[in-house]
Amino acid sequence: MPQPTEHRRLLAWIEETAALTTPDRIVWCDGSPDEWNEITDSLVEAGALVRLDPEKKPNSFWARTDPGDVARVEERTFICSVDEADAGPTNNWTDPAEMKATMTELYRGCMRGRTMYVIPFCMGPLDAPQPMFGVELTDSPYVVASMRIMTRMGSAVLEAMGDDADFVPALHSVGAPLEPGQADVAWPCNEIKYISHFPETREIWSFGSGYGGNSLLGKKCYALRIASVAARDEGWLAEHMLIMKLTSPEGQVRYIAGAFPSACGKTNLAMLEPTLPGWKVETVGDDIAWMRFGEDGRLWATNPEFGLFGVAPGTDFHTNPNAMRTLARGNSVFTNVALTDDGDIWWEGMGEPPAHLRSWRGEDWTPGSDTPSSHPNSRFCTPIEQCPILADEYHDPRGVPIDAILFGGRRKTTIPLVTEARDWVHGVYLGATLSSETTAAAVGQVGVVRRDPMAMLPFIGYHAGDYFQHWIDMAKGAPGDAAKLPKIFYVNWFRRDDDGGFLWPGFGENSRVLKWVVERLDGKGEAVETAIGHVPTAAAIDRTGMNLSDEALEAALRVDRDEWLAEIPQVTEWFTKIGDKLPAVLWSELDALRARLQD
Ligand code: GDP
Ligand code: PGA
Ligand code: MN
Repeated sequence: MPQPTEHRRLLAWIEETAALTTPDRIVWCDGSPDEWNEITDSLVEAGALVRLDPEKKPNSFWARTDPGDVARVEERTFICSVDEADAGPTNNWTDPAEMKATMTELYRGCMRGRTMYVIPFCMGPLDAPQPMFGVELTDSPYVVASMRIMTRMGSAVLEAMGDDADFVPALHSVGAPLEPGQADVAWPCNEIKYISHFPETREIWSFGSGYGGNSLLGKKCYALRIASVAARDEGWLAEHMLIMKLTSPEGQVRYIAGAFPSACGKTNLAMLEPTLPGWKVETVGDDIAWMRFGEDGRLWATNPEFGLFGVAPGTDFHTNPNAMRTLARGNSVFTNVALTDDGDIWWEGMGEPPAHLRSWRGEDWTPGSDTPSSHPNSRFCTPIEQCPILADEYHDPRGVPIDAILFGGRRKTTIPLVTEARDWVHGVYLGATLSSETTAAAVGQVGVVRRDPMAMLPFIGYHAGDYFQHWIDMAKGAPGDAAKLPKIFYVNWFRRDDDGGFLWPGFGENSRVLKWVVERLDGKGEAVETAIGHVPTAAAIDRTGMNLSDEALEAALRVDRDEWLAEIPQVTEWFTKIGDKLPAVLWSELDALRARLQD
């Protein structure tokens, strides 16, 4: 195949990688529909994908991973900064030269018997003032198909790169070379996994996993871990946030960003269908926000992605109808969900289960089976442009000016439905101490409370203490006008009653909380000043048309002194772990909170 570019650095890197990994052939991805058809057809033929019934889900596919390759592997994720101190206490670190030596041996010959695909991609619009390019080299056609959904990729990107544009080189291999004549498996991967980042040289090396979060390198690896480092150096923010446009019945428009850990409600909130009449939500982004101060002193956010990679279980017409409408338009890949006998997909949360399914493990499944049909971290991967409520602003390289930032986690106790921070630094404190129960989105125990600062624990590409300082310093970017800073709120949709039920119904009903947030931005909305911040009174939450008792709402909003006092030693331990680089103002915030609680 002739080389479609004269980009010397790119060509040299491809040549070097091919010499190391020895693929049978190299394919430059152009991003065309023909290429998509060829790749998905060949995956179907190989048994790696099953084509769904085109009447139900046109041009869509069912994929099953190896049962050991279902989620991000935080234990195997590394920030290989030159200086260990720059990775900080929250990241795994290995010396970059040592990591490269180790991985070079793993990569040697690892693409034997396979094709190496070259995927030029761009995070954010191609017509941005500084398009953010990357090139992924991968031996996984599943990754090529998924990257075509999740990023702007192909010939147009390569062309825009010209012969000298900067780009993030992102190398990926499933780590499963084939001997001559050896039959392939449906989901090749390797027990040995490394997801490595080299922040100084802005490189990504991923080995052994095909799961999205580990293999679609434009997403968490580039747009969060590598971009957060660039953002620190250049004075902007790369955050794990949804972005939504919210219009009130009076036609007032507000833009809200929200950081919740993986599988804690970003995609759902981004596509919310309000139960409050007259309110309208439009989606700008569901997972990642890049934010910079504009000349107007406001914080502008863009979504660098092109698709949605959403948690499947729990998604249906009652919880997230807009996701269902997006998926109905087809062109999607479903991974580790169940397959129905009539060629559609099904997962837990979609109402009554059919009498028979093929489970995510490929086995017969009936409603009597004692394990779920779909993996709890099963995913849909679908083009964002199919979202029926996509905001026009999604396409604007300038993005949208953020009015409010929500931090949120999954906590059964303690954290009220919504709290407003007193000011920016207090808001940074709320973000820095954010806690959440672990989910199936990462390998490991589920349901354990851990600190997950700004929902970025697995994604900060440098020292968490420096990251907090960067957040504090961002306020200085709002030239002379603190009033233009977004207001910060902390939400928890997941508080439980004594029987383990959710105190707050969530999903579309979250619009009622958003209404209060907007009222607070306007200087209205009733709140009580508590030790932890401003919390609405039960009367301040609009319950029109809603059947929720005073007791339940009051329990969802309650600030329990004992529960909060129990948090203090945990936060102290967390801050101590961050060490000397923890900004002193955050210690002061903790001291002030303790004093208010003991008052
Ligand atoms: P993301 O990974 O942060 O984008 O999270 P998702 O929006 O995909 O949601 C993850 C899981 O949480 C899904 O199973 C959802 O059904 C569930 N979820 C999302 N929002 C809510 C909510 O407001 N209340 C409750 N109880 N569950 C929610
Ligand atoms: P999400 O992340 O759960 O935040 O959508 C995707 C992932 O875990 O890779
Ligand atoms: Mn999501």
